[in-house]
Amino acid sequence: MLRQLGGTMASQNIESVLHEQRTFQPSAEFAAAARIGAAELAALRREAAGDHAGFWARLAREELVWKTPFTVTLDDSNAPNYSWFADGRLNVSFNCLDVHLAERGEKTAIVFEGEPGDVRRLSYRELHAEVCRLANALKAQGVGCGDRVAIYLPLVPEAVIAMHACNRIGAIHSVVFGGFSAPALKDRIEDTGAKVLITADGGWRGGQAVELKVAADKALADGCPSIERVIVLKRTGRPVLMQPGRDLWWHEAIEGHAAHCEPAWIEAEHPLFLLYTSGSTGKPKGIQHSSGGYLLGAKVTTRWVFDLHEADVFWCTADVGWVTGHSYVTYGPLALGATVLLYEGSPTFPDGGRFWKLCQDHRVSVFYTAPTAIRALMKLGEEVPGRYDLSRLRLLGSVGEPINPEAWMWYHRVIGGGRCPIVDTWWQTETGAILMSPLPGATATKPGSCTVPLPGIEADVVDESGASVSRADTGGYLVVRKPWPSMLRTLWGDNERYRAAYWSRFNGRFYVAGDSAHRDGDGYFWILGRVDDVLNVSGHRLGTMEIESALVSHPRVAEAAVVGKPHEIKGESVFAYVVCRGARPTGDTRQLVAELRDWVGQQLGAIAKPEHIRFADNLPKTRSGKIMRRLLRSIARGEDIIQDVSTLENPAILDQLRGIETPAEAEEEPGLEAGLASPAAAG
Ligand code: WTA
Repeated sequence: MLRQLGGTMASQNIESVLHEQRTFQPSAEFAAAARIGAAELAALRREAAGDHAGFWARLAREELVWKTPFTVTLDDSNAPNYSWFADGRLNVSFNCLDVHLAERGEKTAIVFEGEPGDVRRLSYRELHAEVCRLANALKAQGVGCGDRVAIYLPLVPEAVIAMHACNRIGAIHSVVFGGFSAPALKDRIEDTGAKVLITADGGWRGGQAVELKVAADKALADGCPSIERVIVLKRTGRPVLMQPGRDLWWHEAIEGHAAHCEPAWIEAEHPLFLLYTSGSTGKPKGIQHSSGGYLLGAKVTTRWVFDLHEADVFWCTADVGWVTGHSYVTYGPLALGATVLLYEGSPTFPDGGRFWKLCQDHRVSVFYTAPTAIRALMKLGEEVPGRYDLSRLRLLGSVGEPINPEAWMWYHRVIGGGRCPIVDTWWQTETGAILMSPLPGATATKPGSCTVPLPGIEADVVDESGASVSRADTGGYLVVRKPWPSMLRTLWGDNERYRAAYWSRFNGRFYVAGDSAHRDGDGYFWILGRVDDVLNVSGHRLGTMEIESALVSHPRVAEAAVVGKPHEIKGESVFAYVVCRGARPTGDTRQLVAELRDWVGQQLGAIAKPEHIRFADNLPKTRSGKIMRRLLRSIARGEDIIQDVSTLENPAILDQLRGIETPAEAEEEPGLEAGLASPAAAG
């Protein structure tokens, strides 16, 4: 069912975006210097339309260095398990590091600033050496081609080093965001069967040390029998327990290892990484990406969308625990030989000017973040960014959720000084790389629209029957009609779920993104939101079922239903209806509310904590026992109930559900930080 399309919410969405009439043309100056201008873009589109596979084959030959060239471009004989460039061999770290050594070996690859203010720079040569040392150390610990390595680190250069060290030897990395709790880490490690865990004594966040090793120890104490070794980076220097025979310091592990490591020349389809994301059931999905196709997507989109030139300093604020940090920190920009900025900590530490100070101090020219961060920083007022010199910025990007026109305009005017184009990039963990975005030197932008698909991407909006919705401004399912190289290959260990989740809705005819969208009269796409039971909180995907499972695992909770509620900064917030064992709690429920919120935080991570909890005697169900989520959503939003409630088994429950809300206790983090509950906020 297309939930966003029925009811008031959908018409509000559609109307609010329709009022947006402003269009911004690329300036003549930007267009003249851009890597892709209007003529080049038109030529790319023509080429892709004429020969879809041939277009990608040409790019794959030109952009990547192959040890063994491929002869087969696209194999669709096993659709929807597509493969690209399957008989070609390459190495990803070679394509991101070694290829630059002759021409730009001394160029800065990574500028790092820790939250306490410590700064480190790594040239391409130094990064290459560190990657090789760790790759050799991993081999010495028995990690081989195809083995899985879990990475649970703060956002420090070693996170990038670890990812490349894995792919250098053909090991498959699975990065788990440092904000996830021990049980979430354990589930992910167990699903991958990782042999080695790479973690740290901790990281800095909001002035506090985040105790990663403590969480890792807890995860391993509760399970994870596949883990043989834990490699521990010293970051905060705080004391940690090291388990003899299992735990090894990073600096000791790499001691004596050569700064050279022959790359493993793996097949293009060899998995590069697994990354877990939420779906509509309780169990997160292990998105499996390939090596060749993925790297091609990450590299060309970095060039096209971020227009990187040799002198640019690119800052994508996402943590490598999310796909954005994979494609636009670790892979795309390094494949292009760019300089990237990495920042460990909170955007508001020690104050709300930190992002802008970082842009100033490190001369950031291309800046990519999430709407939730923009909205949160916007609230602090223009004087804050006004204190910093942002004149180096030339291009701004947005990702993770629809950006509301107000935030777009503020970003454009206050941060971009009215001169920087904004690229609103639509994509997903599953798509591997940006699929829809303006090209800054070629596409006119409209605040709130991700504009049109990139060359080689055939996105469409279709109705329930799968027919393309051609009437302007009528919503439907967002789909992609043809396979593309950086698409996910499967779900780790569950190909049936892969087929069901992304392909079954229209009998394998298209990839179903799970978003609803509509197109305006110019063919521009406007994303309306998810059509499944996935919330988007601060640009992060959270499955309602995951939060419900966490709640019902608390001894006091009998049943729970979670829905999203629009939130000024986070985009959406978590609203939970809870049925307790025994009598419904009444009176002052603040303590129980706080306990349940903490419980969810401990089970999943701080980002999943419900903002609102409302207690009821039972949940509204149809006679067949299905929870009426649409109804719960309307109630959470304070909307009039227009749904048919005649099938409701227990109509009397409505008043209770609507009843005076039990306000959850104030956020533990300050309000601003709440929208930015994860390092650097972008998803
Ligand atoms: C949403 C993040 C509107 C969308 C890269 C998608 C967006 C989900 C945009 C994927 C955008 C991402 N405009 N919505 N520019 N970018 N989304 O897997 O609902 O964390 O399906 O990947 O975020 O989230 P994910």
